[in-house]
Amino acid sequence: MLQSALMNVMVKAARRAGRSLKRDLGEIENLQVSLKGPANFVSLADKRAEEMLLTDLLKARPGYGFIGEEGGARIGDDKTHTWIVDPLDGTTNFLHGIPQFAISIGLQREGTIIAGVIYNPANDELYTAERGKGAFLNDQRLRVAGRRQLNDCVIACGLPHIGRGDHELSRLEMTAIQNKVAGLRRFGAASLDMAFVAAGRLDGYWERNLQPWDMAAGQILIREAGGTVSGIEGDDDPLKTGDLICGNEFVHAELVKILRPLGK
Ligand code: IPD
Ligand code: CA
Ligand code: CA
Repeated sequence: MLQSALMNVMVKAARRAGRSLKRDLGEIENLQVSLKGPANFVSLADKRAEEMLLTDLLKARPGYGFIGEEGGARIGDDKTHTWIVDPLDGTTNFLHGIPQFAISIGLQREGTIIAGVIYNPANDELYTAERGKGAFLNDQRLRVAGRRQLNDCVIACGLPHIGRGDHELSRLEMTAIQNKVAGLRRFGAASLDMAFVAAGRLDGYWERNLQPWDMAAGQILIREAGGTVSGIEGDDDPLKTGDLICGNEFVHAELVKILRPLGK
């Protein structure tokens, strides 16, 4: 696959930070399980990965802005471009040695995401997408699944954990969807949930209260794989609301129909 210069920069950065996370995952598996130890270690791993991404991405594109989960915002001279980065999406999985976590890098130009990379160093799955150029898993072109009936579909969701989100609403949503689908899943890394929708592994996914770095890269992957992404309203921007629904156009519309009225 011929890669653009931009994609080269993003992929190289993701792979370098990925090697660091993978080494740290190995350490976690050997760490004594104390309550404080592993959590502190993970937060260091997280920060180390973000430092690497910040260094590599800003070295290659010095003027761009940078929003990273661990370091907050940096304003660049070039006000039109911003990197939106989650150095470790799926922290809880990582902490427990569950190999479902990823580095997520999105590039925003004037409010629109124009490129995305999601990389899971545990299984070396690299998802890439650039506007107008398609979405890929390693070298393989991606297309969202074609199912149109919800009762054939496997759908993923996010669940708010202790102290976060609206648990009551989350239960209402799950019950409503559970009754209509072939399978409901909760994998624990929003970026990979979206990558799985782009790859046609999942038919759809929804979650509330996401942050821009959870979903920037995933959005362009799904769109370039022919899918639809919106907020819970069906035509709103998830980067603005934090709530997200995605799937092929039929599954997306069905999910909107069920979920939209529940939050009112
Ligand atoms: C979290 C994961 C999780 C989602 C949460 C996110 P983090 O990101 O993507 O799947 O349910 O909403 O905050 O904290 O592991 O980077
Ligand atoms: Ca995240
Ligand atoms: Ca994170």
